[in-house]
Amino acid sequence: MAELEDIRYLVGPGGALTGRLRVPGDKSISHRSIMLAALAEGETRISGFLEGADALATLAAFRRMGVEIEGPEAGRVRVRGVGLHGLEAPDAVLDMGNSGTSMRLLAGLLAGQRFATTLVGDASLTRRPMRRVTEPLARMGARIETSETGTAPLRITPVETLTGIDYALPVASAQIKSSLLLAGLFAEGETCVTEPAPTRDHTERMLSAFGYRLRRDGARVCLSGGGRLQGCELVVPADISSAAFFLVGASIAPGSDLVLEGVGINPTRIGVINILRAMGGDIELRDERMAGGEPVADIRVRHAPLHGIEIPRDQVPLAIDEFPALFIAAACAEGETRLGGAEELRVKESDRIQVMADGLATLGIEAEPLPDGIRIRGGALGSNLGRAPIQAHGDHRIAMSFAIAALRAAGPVEIHDCANVETSFPGFPRLAASAGLQIEEQQLA
Ligand code: S3P
Repeated sequence: MAELEDIRYLVGPGGALTGRLRVPGDKSISHRSIMLAALAEGETRISGFLEGADALATLAAFRRMGVEIEGPEAGRVRVRGVGLHGLEAPDAVLDMGNSGTSMRLLAGLLAGQRFATTLVGDASLTRRPMRRVTEPLARMGARIETSETGTAPLRITPVETLTGIDYALPVASAQIKSSLLLAGLFAEGETCVTEPAPTRDHTERMLSAFGYRLRRDGARVCLSGGGRLQGCELVVPADISSAAFFLVGASIAPGSDLVLEGVGINPTRIGVINILRAMGGDIELRDERMAGGEPVADIRVRHAPLHGIEIPRDQVPLAIDEFPALFIAAACAEGETRLGGAEELRVKESDRIQVMADGLATLGIEAEPLPDGIRIRGGALGSNLGRAPIQAHGDHRIAMSFAIAALRAAGPVEIHDCANVETSFPGFPRLAASAGLQIEEQQLA
């Protein structure tokens, strides 16, 4: 995938977020829907699929491996599954773009195939740690070569057999858990993964939706290889990680009253709601229901004065992607917010602790990066116009977080390197503008 052209945001200060809107489909669930549908027998129809670059990279990879996929068209995708052993060797390397989830999950899924594959990614993905998946996969018998520093490209060579392992995750990571479970589909015997803290369980839920048997016992999940997946109908909920920008935006902007429709509220994903509520946020869940094996709700959020907190450590894996947005909430809160136990933030699409601290400093907020978190003192947000622009470092969530911060800034906020917002939230500027954000997108040649 070519690097995307640079896009800048210029966001006017003030305003409120109002009305009703639906953010795009859940990224984690969209990836998994294509992967499991491809390996299933029969057809799977997906609705609500995220048409963002990350999920499209997963989709393109399966097309290259011979899977017939129609769409996406308005979020609808139809996948003709090839069964557990029906994938074909791709005719080129598989480009995962910016998507860590694609690369780590596919490393597991492809480790047990009878053909070789090479997974590559963009500059950011090529810096991210991959040994966390290749090492446990090697224990199962997989042969995956990384660079000397343990990064992509990943060269996967076929092996005679994979064997199930019983693995305790050293870090709370749904990507590692999922990668091993996907490899376990092709392994002899049982593959078990125990997590140190609950992480998103979409893989487990979706395997069940496809009729695959899993054994869950507290923090341990096990499956045996050699079963079968049966194609089904899947509904992808709106992504709570994308809704997070609006939850924070409406919370900090006086006069805001916003309803976000059909958002996934899986208990392993709602750290952002728990943390905002602990800070004084006014968030109401309405019409809670199940859709495609996942709980969803309409979320009403209204402006409320926020206060700083010590973020409980058990919330960290449940809000792992939402911290850039939550740091903006902390910057607008009364008093100090402290986060610890979140060193994982340093190895996301960017070093989210440093990059957020830098951007907050540009807006005049006192933010002290810590090895495993940050300390933020709430205050008045300035404008950076005519001074150093905020650098999003190609990280979608950084770009959107600072766009939302403008709601409380003293003047316009200029953000550079925003093109990767496309990876998770296509149409963000338009949707945010429809709710009241004064955002202008500038495309550089
Ligand atoms: C994801 C898991 C998380 C998250 C990422 C998506 C997934 O990563 O940050 O955006 O879909 O499994 P880790 O497993 O590295 O924590």
